[in-house]
Amino acid sequence: MKITLVTGANRGLGLEASTQLAMKGHKVYMACRDLEKGEFSVKSLQQKGLNVELIKMDVTKTKDIRNFSSRLKENNEQLDVLINNAGVFLESLGPEDQTTASILKVDPVIILKTIETNTIGPLKLIQSLLPLMMDHGGRIINISSGMGKLDDMGGLWPGYRMSKTALNALTKIVASEMKDKKISVNSVCPGWVRTDMGGKNAHLSLAQGVETIVWLATCDNPPSGKFLRDKKEISW
Ligand SMILES: NC(=O)c1ccc[n+]([C@@H]2O[C@H](COP(=O)([O-])OP(=O)(O)OC[C@H]3O[C@@H](n4cnc5c(N)ncnc54)[C@H](OP(=O)(O)O)[C@@H]3O)[C@@H](O)[C@H]2O)c1
Repeated sequence: MKITLVTGANRGLGLEASTQLAMKGHKVYMACRDLEKGEFSVKSLQQKGLNVELIKMDVTKTKDIRNFSSRLKENNEQLDVLINNAGVFLESLGPEDQTTASILKVDPVIILKTIETNTIGPLKLIQSLLPLMMDHGGRIINISSGMGKLDDMGGLWPGYRMSKTALNALTKIVASEMKDKKISVNSVCPGWVRTDMGGKNAHLSLAQGVETIVWLATCDNPPSGKFLRDKKEISW
């Protein structure tokens, strides 16, 4: 049985990826920073007979991450798949006040907070959990965004954009260090998906949004060191 950890699993893409992977037979640890919200989502999947467990984890809290790693070791479990999904978009979205999201106006503290969750969180998880994959092989899937693509970098929302560009760099660095090991590391752009973050006008459903993520977690011979959308490599 494959063991998977999904961060930010109580709603949105994290909940959908957890559901689909559990339906494919994975044991899914659903990491949520708010236990009450997490319990609601996890219980509804357990009631459907799915093998999911709630983990309290704020990805900015090193102690939460270490507690999970210790728990796996105590259970004599290894980790097969790590999905770094938890993310924040802290800069304003509305067209009426986009100026506050300008690189000239945005509070650098907002940029730091965004990077702390979207980039340093995944880094800490990889440092803590990759050793539990090393012996038998594993997959790391970093949920990135087209907004982090250097190739067509636009203006506005610099914190979110830079956090995802840096996450992509993290993907390439870890993939390079793991190139002789049975560890695949990739970034995924899910596309524009109808979640709290994506909003109601987004083009894609949750099911469409997790297609590439679920495929990378389950396919034979996954690629490594790539940025993917719609199961195809895209430029950085
Ligand atoms: N939706 C899109 O169109 C889109 C496009 C490109 C990339 N993405 C990426 O896809 C991922 C999931 O996004 P989504 O659309 O599903 O967003 P969402 O609906 O806003 O969900 C975000 C999730 O991340 C969790 N989270 C935030 N900060 C956290 C922290 N410090 N520790 C643990 N969990 C934390 C949230 O928990 P709480 O409920 O406790 O806040 C929530 O579960 C993100 O990385 C996002 O950047 C989304």
